[in-house]
Amino acid sequence: MIPNSTQYLDADPAGIAAAADLLRQGLLVAFPTETVYGLGGDARNGEAVAAIYAAKGRPSFNPLIAHVASVEAAKRYVEWSDNAEQLAAAFWPGPLTLVLPLRAGHGVSSLVTAGLETLAVRVPAHPTARALLSAVDGPVAAPSANPSGRISPTTAAHVRAGLDGRIAAVLDDGPCSVGLESTIVGLAGSPALLRPGGVALEQIETVLGTRLAHHKPGDLLTAPGQLLSHYAPDAPVRLNATERRGDELLLGFGSVDCDRNLSARGDLIEAAANLFAYLHELDGTGRPIAVSPIPSEGVGAAINDRLRRAAAPRNS
Ligand code: TXA
Ligand code: MG
Repeated sequence: MIPNSTQYLDADPAGIAAAADLLRQGLLVAFPTETVYGLGGDARNGEAVAAIYAAKGRPSFNPLIAHVASVEAAKRYVEWSDNAEQLAAAFWPGPLTLVLPLRAGHGVSSLVTAGLETLAVRVPAHPTARALLSAVDGPVAAPSANPSGRISPTTAAHVRAGLDGRIAAVLDDGPCSVGLESTIVGLAGSPALLRPGGVALEQIETVLGTRLAHHKPGDLLTAPGQLLSHYAPDAPVRLNATERRGDELLLGFGSVDCDRNLSARGDLIEAAANLFAYLHELDGTGRPIAVSPIPSEGVGAAINDRLRRAAAPRNS
């Protein structure tokens, strides 16, 4: 999946068509949005999404934003609501992301949502992003196009500096105008600000006619009772297991006799793509889960981070 060289495509019709083709093939393309350059991959293709984490060197699986071309397209993947309608009418296309319950038959990889029952969706305003998303005609998962821990890219040159040789292409359309990531509003429960960003809180509160609850950025993935609890299987999880004990089901990796294999050929990208779906499936049986050792190189670091959280003592 990792190409030898990165193509630099102009944001003209031919470049946009070429970028859309690469995305449909499951390859990664960095593209401009009005906020920052995004590192895009087909959100329905688990291996493409796993490759995003590998290219960024992200040590953990944060859920990603699915970018779509229109409100109509967003409604294919999430349960729409009156609040969503009001905010979309006011701020889409634009630097606002809405977190909504997943809709049945959504087809989005569970690696995009990190196993959650909600999906973050956004319709960017940048004309090149919109043209690309229309051409792909599907959800494109895209975190900022920088290596993990580095600052977000607002030009194609920033993307090149961080990801050259690690992704198929960069669609170059000059600097981003907002330069700050989208505001994220959670609408799965009472409206909440999940991340401040390109649209001001006050504008959002005016449109909704209500104050938003606030979640500090660190709360998002760490506070008990918030996201983390949704990530954890109900069943006890035992790591680095070489065999089943008692009633356990074995989630394997590599050539092992097991109940579900993350990747029989020992491919970490394939394993990442399968991780959340298999955890959910095994958890549904109500039996304890044992997991084979997973190497910590590449995207294996994020897999092990997730598994450690799944295996951590529960606080309920
Ligand atoms: O402006 C932006 O939003 C840029 C451009 C490329 O669109 N993208 C971006 O993505 O900033 P990223 O991956 O850096 O940030 C996504 C944020 C994360 O903090 C993640 O935790 C949150 O969105 N998020 C995604 N899905 C979520 C969900 N289902 N529930 C709660 N938070 C979610
Ligand atoms: Mg980011």
